[in-house]
Order: sequence, then structure tokens, then C-alpha cells
Amino acid sequence: MPYLQPRGGWIELICGSMFSGKTEELIRRVRRAEIARQRVQVFKPKIDDRYSATEVASHNGLHCVAEVIESAREILNKLRPDTTVVAVDEAQFLDWTIADVARVLADRGLRVIITGLDLDFRGEPFGPMPLLLAEAELVDKLHAICVVCGAPASRTQRLINGQPAHYNDPVILVGASEVYEARCRNCHQVPGRPAFGV
Ligand code: TMP
Ligand code: MG
Ligand code: ZN
Repeated sequence: MPYLQPRGGWIELICGSMFSGKTEELIRRVRRAEIARQRVQVFKPKIDDRYSATEVASHNGLHCVAEVIESAREILNKLRPDTTVVAVDEAQFLDWTIADVARVLADRGLRVIITGLDLDFRGEPFGPMPLLLAEAELVDKLHAICVVCGAPASRTQRLINGQPAHYNDPVILVGASEVYEARCRNCHQVPGRPAFGV
């Protein structure tokens, strides 16, 4: 990561739609740090047990060992004294305290790498991600390819029995390509979405 602050800590945020390669990029950065013999701890929220309860896994099959947390504060409790890099996957599922935890770690001089969905299936900001986007020094917004038209995809379409999910459906539904596909703004459909937030 070309960030010129070798002695201080900082926060890197990797966001974007599903299938945009967020976890792949997280794992790539974690591996690079490990090769440099840095002490890395990887965390993931308990909610996402799609592939494994003890690993972070990308859609293309990459994985690395992770500690499961139920709340953001647990990162501080589980932190080892010699850790210099903290990575967190799927931060959209964590409570808003994750932004405070990330700040505390960066203030202490740690490198913090966080991934998460910036938008939920409705196209609205997902959980604490807006706070993290504001707090981070570095933000990468990755794109997938829209399965409908081939344009860069910034959104995630939820499909229930092949039909676009309704705006009032519950926000959390763990899954992969059986329920979700990447789409561009133009092809993204959310029946029932109000034009203005209420
Ligand atoms: P991914 O970003 O690594 O592909 O994983 C996103 C996870 O979030 C996946 O388990 C599906 C879930 N999800 C929701 O719970 N609600 C949503 O609105 C969206 C888009 C995804
Ligand atoms: Mg992922
Ligand atoms: Zn499209």
C-alpha cells in the first residue's frame, strides 16, 4: 500500500458490490504483510458463516484464517500485544463501534484494513460503512461487472425466485450467487424503493 506514513497508523477501506473482489484484495494485502513478517490478525463477524466459521473466504476460493467476533469491541479484547496489522472482513455486519475501534487502533500506530459492502441490496448505505468511509485515510471502491449489460457494477441485486427483492425485505440475508448478482445503477432494481428517504 503506497501510504507514506511509515511510523503512524492508518485505516484502509475496501468497499464495493458483491463479487467485486473485496475479500480477495484483503487477503492479498494480508499476505504481503505476512511476507514482510508483520504480525497480522484477521477478524470477521460471526454472522457470515457462508464458507467457514474460522476463515475469511473470497468468492473465487481464496481463504485465510480469521478470528470470529460478535461485536466490534471484541477486536480490542482479542488484540495481541505484538500485532501491527488488523484486517476486518464484512464490516457491514458489525455495530457502529467498529469506527471507534478502527480509530483507536490507527491512533496506536496500527495499520487497519477493512472491507465491507458500501450498499445493501436496496442501494442504501450498509451499517457502519458510511462512518468507516469517512474515517479511512485510503478508500478503494471496487467494481464487479454487471451481469445484465456488462458495465462496471456498483450495486448488488438480490433475487428471490428470480425476481428482484422488495425494498421492505430484511436487509440481512447471507448468501452468494444463488441470491445475489452484481449490477450497474441502470440495471439494479428495487421494487417499492421510495424516491426520497423517509
Ligand atoms: P461479500 O461482500 O463478501 O460478497 O459478502 C456479502 C454478504 O452480505 C453475503 O453473505 C450476502 C450479504 N448481504 C446481505 O446480508 N444483505 C445485502 O443487502 C447484501 C447486498 C448482501
Ligand atoms: Mg467477501
Ligand atoms: Zn447494467
